[in-house]
Amino acid sequence: ANNRTFTMIKPDAFAKGNTGAIIQKITNSGFKIVALKLTKLSAEQAGDFYAIHKEKAFYDKLIEFMTSGPIIAAVLEKKNAVDDFRALIGSTNPEEAAEGTIRNLFATNVTFNAIHGSDSDENAAIESAFHFKDDEIIAY
Ligand code: CMP
Repeated sequence: ANNRTFTMIKPDAFAKGNTGAIIQKITNSGFKIVALKLTKLSAEQAGDFYAIHKEKAFYDKLIEFMTSGPIIAAVLEKKNAVDDFRALIGSTNPEEAAEGTIRNLFATNVTFNAIHGSDSDENAAIESAFHFKDDEIIAY
């Protein structure tokens, strides 16, 4: 059955004008956009979203970056969505991201890494609900 994942085009990729190319790559890879918006995270929203990283050394840098400018949030549908999307975006560190992946093409480093993809079905549902009301996710 089809299932869903959640993604954000991060402030670095948005600011560089890579939104269109990234969305093209996502849809060319068989993902259906079922929700989409331009938004900007407040410090409080970013803190909630990244609560599991609160004790990490990179936490403050992550929050500063993720609140630094607009992002694109989206919910995507595909068979095997979470794993296939993580394969499409590549490793967190772009130096380790496979050739042709979104992070290989558009990321700068492990902080400015262009895009987010949920790491489990459970987190996909939590992260989607964080950004979208039920009636903002379109079944078609
Ligand atoms: P993402 O997987 O989307 O969400 C958590 C983010 O934390 C991750 O992307 C990176 O941007 C960031 N991150 C993970 N590990 C590191 C690290 N070692 N140094 C800096 N940022 C990191």
